[in-house]
Amino acid sequence: MAETSSTVPLEKIPQHVAIIMDGNGRWALQRGLPRLAGHKAGTENLRRVIRSTVEFGVKYLTIYAFSTENWGRPPEEVKGLMYILEDVIDRELNELHKEGVQLRHIGRLERLAPSLQEKVLDAIDVTKNNDRLILNIAFNYGGRDEIVQAIQRMMKDGVPPEKVTDELVSQYLYTAGVPDPDLIIRTSGELRVSNFLIWQAAYSEWYITPTFWPDFDKDEYRRALEAFAHRDRRYGKVASGELQESNA
Ligand code: FPP
Repeated sequence: MAETSSTVPLEKIPQHVAIIMDGNGRWALQRGLPRLAGHKAGTENLRRVIRSTVEFGVKYLTIYAFSTENWGRPPEEVKGLMYILEDVIDRELNELHKEGVQLRHIGRLERLAPSLQEKVLDAIDVTKNNDRLILNIAFNYGGRDEIVQAIQRMMKDGVPPEKVTDELVSQYLYTAGVPDPDLIIRTSGELRVSNFLIWQAAYSEWYITPTFWPDFDKDEYRRALEAFAHRDRRYGKVASGELQESNA
């Protein structure tokens, strides 16, 4: 059997992984550091995780970097997270482009500083023909907000109620054309969805680990993929083995 790493069979590698990168603040607190130091360590880890994602052969990666609720954090933390996004684009764009990563943004851009909006749009444009990895950055993103906007746009487009289907709603979301996440990883042990991809996650498999995001390394990423490879995805139906037995 073809294997991409020591133990995960290639055909069981998820096509789309989404990550709630939680625990930066607690990581910093444990070390007596300011919260922003945790976000910086988290950013370093993100660089490693993106590289591993390409190596594992995952095609889509969606990361939750800033939620519509994160505006309620202390102003200096909000400012710091804006700065991190800017800095990541300034420093990493060339390397990501060289690696064949296509950058996309999901969420609302309009509340960001105009210069930052421009930077994001420029990064999207520069990388738009890359296809080794599609990296969706959820920044100023909220799942409910995404659905509300989709409904508003459908109504503006005059979509008649009987034409509203699962597929059509999906086409009105930020993630139009992107397969739903197969695996969602949440670090730092919280058992919450936190308004992340609430439509798209209908049948996603979850992997929750107590590890804080800055410490989520390649070995643990591999363990998450291994756990996914052993899941029996039934999409509300029964296992295929059970069906054969009952038909026999
Ligand atoms: C949650 O940890 C983390 C965030 C709100 C920010 C995640 C951002 C990064 C990892 C940096 C990468 C960013 C970009 C823009 C690419 P928390 O602060 O809620 O941790 P806590 O629950 O321990 O306080």
